[in-house]
Amino acid sequence: MQNFEFLSPTKIIFGKGTEEKVGAETKKYSDKVLLHYGGGSIKKSGLYDRIVKSLKDAGVEYIELPGVLPNPRLGLVNEGIKLCRENGIKFILAVGGGSVIDSSKAIAVGVPYPGDVWDFFTGAAVAKEALPVGVVLTFPAAGSEASKSCVITKEEGLLKRGHNTQLNRPVFAIMNPELSFTLPPYQTAAGVVDIMAHMMERYFTNETYVDYTDRLTEAALKSVIDNARIVMKEPENYNARAEIMWAGTIAHNDFLETGRIPDFASHNIEHELSAKYDMTHGAGLAIIFPAWMKYVYKGKLNKFVQFATRVWNVDMNYDEPERTALEGIRRMEEFFKEIGLPVRLKDADIGEDGIAEMTEKCKLPNGDTLGNFVRLNRKDIENVFRLAL
Ligand code: NZQ
Ligand code: ZN
Repeated sequence: MQNFEFLSPTKIIFGKGTEEKVGAETKKYSDKVLLHYGGGSIKKSGLYDRIVKSLKDAGVEYIELPGVLPNPRLGLVNEGIKLCRENGIKFILAVGGGSVIDSSKAIAVGVPYPGDVWDFFTGAAVAKEALPVGVVLTFPAAGSEASKSCVITKEEGLLKRGHNTQLNRPVFAIMNPELSFTLPPYQTAAGVVDIMAHMMERYFTNETYVDYTDRLTEAALKSVIDNARIVMKEPENYNARAEIMWAGTIAHNDFLETGRIPDFASHNIEHELSAKYDMTHGAGLAIIFPAWMKYVYKGKLNKFVQFATRVWNVDMNYDEPERTALEGIRRMEEFFKEIGLPVRLKDADIGEDGIAEMTEKCKLPNGDTLGNFVRLNRKDIENVFRLAL
């Protein structure tokens, strides 16, 4: 097991009706905030009215910035930075899913920084301070409500890049599972796969003595799979939605990463897909993760056999363990299909045309490779895309 430091300072306020606490919670930080949200789902559901009432009741003034798109864009982040500076705003309230939260986080690090906020995403600068961000979560998926990550797309060149810093962790996250009842099935399913992917990126590690977190992750995956099957049939099943929402936070707040070095190759490869085709991140992962697994499993048979037997209940084939491993991958792929997601590029009407460009643009965090469980060079990345065709 690796040495580690674990920090998860986000205050979680979980359960029915908790959004009513947003005013009082926000007031602890500021009397004037930027209210940041997306394309209107919160108005349609009536959540917007409840948030505004709670802020007013607590005496919190707000300036609104709506319009965050899925795969949030740098242009709106810059608008938000300007608004905050012009109005002396020192707190960002994000109401929405991962895109709204990430846009808020980028504004939060951008306001005190005199340079271009994109510097943090290229690695040209290191963030030293950030405004506090509070969250009302409507979509369990990205785990951004407690994560140290922030992912933004720069319109010019369609570059989707992440910025990781402890400063990105929101100060509070209000999580009422009922707010996710209105999610369409496709988004619900994509969220489930993103949550599973955050667990699997950490599960597939070369650390051998991480039994506790391995078993926690296996249980978490099984629970998400079971509850996903329920919510796909019963979108208003509170308990199933609640299980998924809480799992989504723990999947990405680094708890399941303790003592281990995670992989994250599939995420980096997927970011090229969602940047180029404006694809839903979780749907992109449903395509890339199985392809990545098929590409790397042979050299890492033990871990894939463990995954197959413990998560997917595959019977162990002692004569041919490779078959056991492959059956685990097959069952995962079948599950993604069952909940209505694409598992091949062609299912999403994507051919081989963009592969060269996506491969070329893919960020290589280790210098000339990507991923830690198995290090992938550009040729390997291209091969993963081709396996996904
Ligand atoms: O914009 P509105 O109208 O609110 O609609 C959104 C959006 O169209 C809708 N939605 C959200 N909550 C809803 C709802 N519709 C009905 N009922 C509700 N309760 O869903 C659509 C997608 O929302 P979005 O925020 O884009 O989804 P998600 O939470 O999956 O976030 C995806 C983004 O997060 C990044 C992804 O790359 C992508 O850009 N990620 C961020 C991470 C992080 N910061 O830690 C980690 C992840 O790996 C991921 O990369
Ligand atoms: Zn993700």
